Amino acid sequence: MPVNEKALPRFAFGANWTRFLESLNDAKIATAENSLKSWLNVSTLDGKTFLDIGSGSGLFSLAARRLGATVRSFDFDPNSVKCAVWLREQYFKEDPRWIIEQGSVLDEAFMRSLGTFDVVYAWGVLHHTGAMWQAIAHAANAVASQGQLFIAIYNDQGWKSWVWKTIKRTYNFLPGPLRFLVVLPCLVLLKGLPFLQDLILGHPFRSWKKQTEQRGMSPWSDLIDWVGGYPFEVATAVEILQFLSQRSLTPERFSDYGSSACNEFVFKRTA
Ligand SMILES: C[S@@+](CC[C@H](N)C(=O)[O-])C[C@H]1O[C@@H](n2cnc3c(N)ncnc32)[C@H](O)[C@@H]1O
Repeated sequence: MPVNEKALPRFAFGANWTRFLESLNDAKIATAENSLKSWLNVSTLDGKTFLDIGSGSGLFSLAARRLGATVRSFDFDPNSVKCAVWLREQYFKEDPRWIIEQGSVLDEAFMRSLGTFDVVYAWGVLHHTGAMWQAIAHAANAVASQGQLFIAIYNDQGWKSWVWKTIKRTYNFLPGPLRFLVVLPCLVLLKGLPFLQDLILGHPFRSWKKQTEQRGMSPWSDLIDWVGGYPFEVATAVEILQFLSQRSLTPERFSDYGSSACNEFVFKRTA
């Protein structure tokens, strides 16, 4: 049954991304580029087409464009779309090789109209749509022959995932000024122990800063994204591997972190 996307309780991703862009700098952009290069196992994206599904801040579209790709970005949230447009204004003003629009990965006609791409990127997106498996299938359909699909999906942790889902629902249900009631305990739960360890070892905030080194994200934006990110679905790595192997996609590399984090996968279309 099709999902009524407008009726879903939904986290305001775009507002979070707008705040994130205030802290964007060259080092974070370089980290995002390195993440793409290393996961896709390339040194450049020259001559490639790149579809960024759920582009969020637009950072990875920017990274792909800087690596030479012709980029198409879209996001369901109009404020996320504005973020990517703002980034294009700053770095690739009036560039015809970077198209940005509002759209949904669940919209079959829209997805079909885009055609296929050498790289389809949907990091941390498909589990926030309200119909994860349909979203994964649509993303897979957009991969060209010999193209790559790079996705990240929250790991299924059984009852723990159910608890997080309840926390996220509560966050989105509360009015803005009361959301700290959910965020503060989560901050302590997720960051308290590493903070104490760093403090004892004489390196306060080391783990906090290290998080930025992974994808060029900001730890605070990531925390709010994690606590609030809703709709929320999960899958085990095995489920993802099975689902996409039935769609002629072969895994090139993946990480099964076994935690609440997103598992990451790069697949190649072999047929
Ligand atoms: C956690 S963010 C990830 C952003 C970006 N891909 C990244 O790696 O930083 C999830 C994004 O998916 C977008 N999103 C949610 N549902 C969507 C849908 N049905 N179609 C397209 N984008 C969607 C949200 O608006 C949000 O910007």
